[in-house]
Amino acid sequence: MRILLLVAATAGLAFAAGPISASGSNFTLTGNGMSYLFHVDPSSLDLFSDHFGGPVDDFINPATIFQGGWSDGLTNDRREFPDIGRSDYRLPAIHISHADGNTVSAFAYQSYEILPGKPSLPGLPATYGNASDVSTLIIRLYDNYSDVSAALSYSVFPSYNAIARSFQITNNGSANITIERAASFSIDLPNLDLNMLELQGDWAHEMNRVIRPVQYGETSFRSTEGYSSHVHNPFFALMSPSTTESSGEAWGFNLVYTGSFAATTERFSHGFVRVLLGLNPLHASIPVGPGQTFTSPEAVAVYSSEGLGGMSRSFHDLYRNHLSRSNYTLQTRPVLLNSWEGLGFNINQSSLDQLAQETADLGIRLFVNDDGWFGQTPYARINDTAGLGDWTPNPDHFPNGLGPYVGDVDSLTVENSSQKLEFGIWVEPEMVNPNSTLYNEHPDWALHAGSHPRTLTRNQLVLNLGLPEVQDYLITAISNVINSADIRYIKWDNNRGMHELPNPAADYNYMLGMYRVMDNLTGSYPDILWEGCASGGGRFDPGILHYYPQSWTSDDTDAAERLTIQMGTSLAYPPSAMACHVSAVPNGITQRNTSIEYRAHVALMCGSFGFELNPVELTAEERAAIPGILADWERINPIVITGSFYRLALPDNSNWPAAQFVSANQTVAIVFAFQQRATVKPAPPPLKIAGLNATARYTSNLYNGSLSGSTLMNAGINLAWETADYQSMLIWLYRQ
Ligand SMILES: *[C@@H]1O[C@H](CO)[C@@H](O)[C@H](O)[C@H]1NC(C)=O
Ligand SMILES: *[C@@H]1O[C@H](CO)[C@@H](O)[C@H](O)[C@H]1NC(C)=O
Ligand SMILES: *[C@@H]1O[C@H](CO)[C@@H](O)[C@H](O)[C@H]1NC(C)=O
Ligand SMILES: *[C@@H]1O[C@H](CO)[C@@H](O)[C@H](O)[C@H]1NC(C)=O
Ligand SMILES: *[C@@H]1O[C@H](CO)[C@@H](O)[C@H](O)[C@H]1NC(C)=O
Ligand SMILES: *[C@@H]1O[C@H](CO)[C@@H](O)[C@H](O)[C@H]1NC(C)=O
Ligand SMILES: *[C@@H]1O[C@H](CO)[C@@H](O)[C@H](O)[C@H]1NC(C)=O
Ligand SMILES: *[C@@H]1O[C@H](CO)[C@@H](O)[C@H](O)[C@H]1NC(C)=O
Ligand SMILES: *[C@@H]1O[C@H](CO)[C@@H](O)[C@H](O)[C@H]1NC(C)=O
Ligand SMILES: *[C@@H]1O[C@H](CO)[C@@H](O)[C@H](O)[C@H]1NC(C)=O
Ligand SMILES: *[C@@H]1O[C@H](CO)[C@@H](O)[C@H](O)[C@H]1NC(C)=O
Ligand SMILES: *[C@@H]1O[C@H](CO)[C@@H](O)[C@H](O)[C@H]1NC(C)=O
Repeated sequence: MRILLLVAATAGLAFAAGPISASGSNFTLTGNGMSYLFHVDPSSLDLFSDHFGGPVDDFINPATIFQGGWSDGLTNDRREFPDIGRSDYRLPAIHISHADGNTVSAFAYQSYEILPGKPSLPGLPATYGNASDVSTLIIRLYDNYSDVSAALSYSVFPSYNAIARSFQITNNGSANITIERAASFSIDLPNLDLNMLELQGDWAHEMNRVIRPVQYGETSFRSTEGYSSHVHNPFFALMSPSTTESSGEAWGFNLVYTGSFAATTERFSHGFVRVLLGLNPLHASIPVGPGQTFTSPEAVAVYSSEGLGGMSRSFHDLYRNHLSRSNYTLQTRPVLLNSWEGLGFNINQSSLDQLAQETADLGIRLFVNDDGWFGQTPYARINDTAGLGDWTPNPDHFPNGLGPYVGDVDSLTVENSSQKLEFGIWVEPEMVNPNSTLYNEHPDWALHAGSHPRTLTRNQLVLNLGLPEVQDYLITAISNVINSADIRYIKWDNNRGMHELPNPAADYNYMLGMYRVMDNLTGSYPDILWEGCASGGGRFDPGILHYYPQSWTSDDTDAAERLTIQMGTSLAYPPSAMACHVSAVPNGITQRNTSIEYRAHVALMCGSFGFELNPVELTAEERAAIPGILADWERINPIVITGSFYRLALPDNSNWPAAQFVSANQTVAIVFAFQQRATVKPAPPPLKIAGLNATARYTSNLYNGSLSGSTLMNAGINLAWETADYQSMLIWLYRQ
């Protein structure tokens, strides 16, 4: 319920509601360790940024800038919601084409209101919370010359030092307008020395850190793939050059959106740094008719004075408690075995029954049937040239449908437990093969642009989820699969980017449609464990995390490479949301051999742990190790799901990477330590533990007696590594 606390124009009264206060037209948003200040400039009625950083109590004068000369007017101001065409030469947050062809906007402050809690965003994923978690400030602006109104929304989550922003543009005129650019988060920071950290990569190579200075001009990256993509993630951090993992200032920005995006900083001649995160202008040009409203996706920013680690833990806690809506977000996830790397397309009821039996015999609780189960002759999904779109079981493999087959799987008892095996299945609903009944019946449902050839990737096309009939088809088709059998888990894959779009706005409309489908299916089937996937980590973003509690992190399951990928992913996303599996060696992508313990220790750092191999190919030693790994999982998984995560050393710059969780109740810490290559010299540096109580004492599986938190954090511990590649250790610390 929305309670209107106050509507005020520019009257000079002061008002405070929890973490938001309005003094006249000075606005202050306060977190436990963060302040965000801006005000209305009385002469222009523009919004000017004052501060985003550590706690402050007062508004201070802006920097003195030489006025006059060529760069005059608004380009010298620090603006909150920059528009275009009136003396500001920098990139705008909002860029509108009007019916007469001009692109000038002049948004002027009108009023504000403060709401307890946070309204939902129509049709889009967003953070949420009640009045004790979050407060929202709405600022209303109006462009008198074009009859366009804007409502900016600022929601502050004080416990996480986080601000969530979005805006709406309403066309109050009688002609059409077009949104050419929309940056959900925009702020002008002072002339600070800053570095930008982002995550770049590709398929099987996701989430590699890149750090570059925020120089004069633009420092930017984007996705034009239609999706958030492997190549760049819609996340970046700004930090001072001296910021480390555990100290210094860091600002993290993340777009709650799965489509194309753009992230930009622009340093102008005065040194002020404009920050913009929102839609990619190449996939915008969104028409807004008279009386209609455009809603931007949401962007979240967090401030940390405790380095990148503090920033990450704020994101992790915010996302687990106030973004991801699933029943499973704060629950342990069953260990699973996925059929893909073991069987590929070589599936039929007997090969699957055998694999399910092997799964149960190993003590694994969930069996996942990957690709290859659907489609009918002539479009049977027996290879990747056919079948996507036809979501009915292949009668050659499942003559009696999925129900009886899943019944057989469910009848198996998991070794060393009283539980029955559970069943999960793979789907890729947003895609279609031209070799399918669906495509033959509805060729117009695939994304296409006029008569341009429809470019195939992996023999498939992308359905236009902006079309209501496509959304309805997918809701019905996937609901029918779920209703036909006892399905406990669904892996929702998506294996290519978008090519020919009918118009640039089709990407935004696709996302609204995709979110409608995901909202419907997760709402109808809340007890299914949903996992996002896009050729690995191609859509590891907060938009998907709103609906699905976990995402497949990368198709690269080489544990040595996974350390880099998982550490990168953890900058913004909680390890509890990562899906990570032990696969066979030599690894299918890198040909690297590592022990099953090393592979398991890397994968156990994730919320969803599993195996992706054919059990009959396990060696005797590997098979013998599995009960111990499952026992470790039993103790570790609850701590990964709700504990705090610390990166102790990165594989990019240490031969001895390590990471650590502290349990939510602070009594247990589990440290994952690795040695990548055998070395004679130098000695490994001491491993300094983080997040402990300095005055408490800790016992461990590593040493006799106890050590103080201070000792463990400041002197650290020395681990006795063998002279061998790819070693790993689990170190438990128990507070006395
Ligand atoms: C707003 O802040 C400015 C300083 O930037 C101060 O001069 C002014 O008095 C404040 N207005 C109110 C109503 O608090
Ligand atoms: C708000 O939500 C928190 C959990 O996030 C809960 O503990 C609290 O009782 C809720 N408060 C109200 C007023 O609903
Ligand atoms: C916009 O126009 C209205 C009347 O149409 C007027 O009251 C208001 O002052 C104008 N605002 C600005 C910023 O010019
Ligand atoms: C613009 O239109 C919206 C939606 O119809 C309406 O709520 C708002 O009051 C209008 N604003 C102005 C200034 O006319
Ligand atoms: C706005 O655009 C729509 C779709 O292109 C068109 O049908 C409509 O006539 C336009 N309206 C105006 C007022 O120009
Ligand atoms: C899952 O959440 C739904 C509401 O979204 C609730 O009705 C259902 O009982 C929950 N299931 C479990 C197992 O918690
Ligand atoms: C089932 O698949 C396995 C593995 O591909 C194969 O060996 C077997 O002949 C198949 N059985 C049937 C009945 O098709
Ligand atoms: C691939 O699948 C199609 C459609 O089921 C089938 O016609 C074709 O023979 C298959 N190709 C191979 C090499 O198996
Ligand atoms: C359709 O399937 C046939 C048989 O596998 C294959 O040769 C052809 O390339 C496929 N067509 C497309 C567009 O993938
Ligand atoms: C999902 O869509 C179907 C079909 O439109 C509808 O009947 C059902 O109520 C929807 N469920 C949810 C949870 O939105
Ligand atoms: C604290 O959490 C750990 C790890 O989940 C658990 O083993 C332990 O029982 C908990 N202690 C208390 C007092 O709840
Ligand atoms: C830290 O440990 C000491 C000694 O065990 C204890 O007195 C204190 O309450 C602990 N502090 C916190 C914040 O848990």
